[in-house]
This record gives sequence, structure tokens and C-alpha cells, in this order.
Amino acid sequence: MTHETGRLPSDEVRGMFDRIAPVYDVMNRAMTAGLDQRWRRLAVREVVWPGDRVLDACCGTGDLAIEAERRGGKVVGLDFSERMLERARNKSGTIDWVRGDALALPFSDGEFDAVTVGFGVRNLDDLEGGLRELHRVLRPGGKVAVLEITRPRGLLRPFFRLWFDVLVPFAGKVLPGGKAYTYLPASVRRFPGPEDLAALFASAGFQGVRYRLLGGGSVALHTGTRPK
Ligand SMILES: C[S@@+](CC[C@H](N)C(=O)[O-])C[C@H]1O[C@@H](n2cnc3c(N)ncnc32)[C@H](O)[C@@H]1O
Repeated sequence: MTHETGRLPSDEVRGMFDRIAPVYDVMNRAMTAGLDQRWRRLAVREVVWPGDRVLDACCGTGDLAIEAERRGGKVVGLDFSERMLERARNKSGTIDWVRGDALALPFSDGEFDAVTVGFGVRNLDDLEGGLRELHRVLRPGGKVAVLEITRPRGLLRPFFRLWFDVLVPFAGKVLPGGKAYTYLPASVRRFPGPEDLAALFASAGFQGVRYRLLGGGSVALHTGTRPK
């Protein structure tokens, strides 16, 4: 499979994130003009309450998990890239950082009050299977929040295309792990739009699924509840 299809076997995705780990945070801040941390805060506020047991799946370098802990959650961060987890461990010694696969979560049914995923579900080999796993580990009444890049409609669309399809891959060429930034726009292109993604949440068993668009429509925040 090629990077242009935006779909890679999970070993390649893991290798790619291992390689970009050293520049991941800097690229995030640069690509979003620093707004990414605000989006993570909004996601956490929707679903996490003090004392909640929280899973942040596909936690990467840990920023969303850290936001959930700031909100008062007892947090587990899970990722399959050891290099990303190393960075996360350096940021927080109180979060439980676990190496594992989001498609086969090493947790019992109903273990968490809230589950978050930031910019991770787009990379899953099996999106529907991944959503079912998130649903499985939530207790009845527990809540999910998923942040993901989406392609804006309307006025911002040409600007987004220039930024995402031209400038981001170009920046990737001069940074370590450059292929990742070719893969990034392709993976967004093949990913379901917000309405379709909401429908997939509902098929995975979530109730009250809603989404809001952030960043001028370039990011979607989906939330839902595991029915009681
Ligand atoms: C774009 S990063 C997002 C990191 C972080 N959540 C954030 O908000 O910046 C995607 C992360 O998902 C992880 N990932 C992708 N597929 C995974 C899987 N099947 N199981 C566990 N982690 C996965 C990658 O290793 C990477 O760290």
C-alpha cells in the first residue's frame, strides 16, 4: 500500500509515529497556530469530571491525557508507539502510560467513565472496530470524545488545501519522518466527513452522538454516551 492512499498497515503507522515523535509537538503547534491545545481542553471539558477514570487512547506524546488529568481525572494513556510514549512519560509521572493497541484494548468491559481520542481514530486500520472497542471499555452512561481533522467546506476550503496538501507535506520533507506528512493529508482525504463519522459512532452503539466543528471547520469534535 502506498502513502498516497492514506491507508497503511498498522506496523507502518507505528513506525511512522516512532520516527516523527521528536518533532510531533512542534509540528502540531505550528500546523494549528497553537490552537490544538485549546481543542484538547474543549474535548476534555465535554466528557471528563473530577474523579473519573479516563482512558486516552492513541495518546501519542500525551497532551490530551494531561488535559484530562488537569480536569481531575485518573488517567490511563495508551499508544502503540514506544517513541511517542517516551515523550509522554517525560511530561507526566502520574498518568499511567500503557503500550497497547487501540483495536484490542487491554482493559475489561466498562472500566472507564470517559474515553478520549485526539487525532488518532483516522489512523486505525479498522475504524468501526476501534469505535466498538472504545464503547466496550466505557461503563454504561460513560462518555466518549473524539477530536479529528476534517476537510472544511466553504470559504476556508482553498486555504486549507494549500496549507494541508502543499505546505504540510513540504514541511515534512525537511523534517525527520517526512513521509508522515505526505500520509497526513491523504489520510484526511479518505476519512469520513463529520456526518458519516457520527453515523459510525451510532452504529458502534453510542447514543446522543453530536459533533461540533472547530478551527474554521478543519477539526471535528464528536461526543457520545454508552447507553445505560
Ligand atoms: C496523530 S497522533 C495523536 C496523538 C495525541 N492523541 C494528540 O492529541 O496529539 C496519533 C497517535 O495514534 C497512535 N496510534 C495509531 N494507531 C494506533 C493503534 N492501533 N493503537 C494504539 N495507538 C495507535 C500513534 O502511535 C500516534 O501516537
